[in-house]
Amino acid sequence: MSNSDIAKRIAAEAAAALVEDGMLVGLGSGSTLAYVVMALGRRVRDEGLDFTGVPTSSETEALAITQGITLTALSEAKLDLAIDGADEIETGTLRLIKGLGAALLREKIVVQASRRFVVVSDASKIVTHLGQRAPLPVEVVQFGQVATAHRLAELGGKPVLRLDRSGAPRITDGGNVIYDCGGFAPIRDPFTLQRQLKAIAGVVESGLFLDCAEQAIIGEPDGSTYTMWPAGAR
Ligand code: A5P
Repeated sequence: MSNSDIAKRIAAEAAAALVEDGMLVGLGSGSTLAYVVMALGRRVRDEGLDFTGVPTSSETEALAITQGITLTALSEAKLDLAIDGADEIETGTLRLIKGLGAALLREKIVVQASRRFVVVSDASKIVTHLGQRAPLPVEVVQFGQVATAHRLAELGGKPVLRLDRSGAPRITDGGNVIYDCGGFAPIRDPFTLQRQLKAIAGVVESGLFLDCAEQAIIGEPDGSTYTMWPAGAR
């Protein structure tokens, strides 16, 4: 197992320990979240943990089923907790870029429906300004996508249509496409950028997750973890 996988797994186990009996828990997407799902599956089997998960992607749903986790669709107004990975975590603010796994829309809906949102990651995702290591994913409806991409370019986003392994456009679980926008970096005013993006009719959502993370649990390859909080939270 690589150092990165060890760090992801240890952070995932710490986050999985936050889940209690009776909770309704949003389960994000990505490789770190897969470790969370496996850790929760072990708790279900070994401790009889009795919780219900709300998966944010077909991949997470399929894995959770193999782990014996009870699942439901998002039919409640409020979840107790959401756990998810991130592509970038800004120090001090815990603002995030998400969506390199193409599940950003459902992930954001689940986060906004949750009382608490805990991020799990290895340290490689930590940045001082959003945009440092990842382009900003922007989910766009297929109708008129070229016109929408033109608007993203006018904003300075340098949009690149995301393709899957076969070279076809990557279609999200919501039936949309994604433009990865590397041109916004460094993102110094993410709230203004989010407003500008959402003002474009063809934009469904962006990968900016702003001021929603309660804490970020960071795993290290030596098996230790530490927790980052937004400035002023503690
Ligand atoms: C999925 O759409 C993303 O938001 C993921 O949370 C993100 O890509 C993190 O994935 P890894 O845990 O695989 O790095």
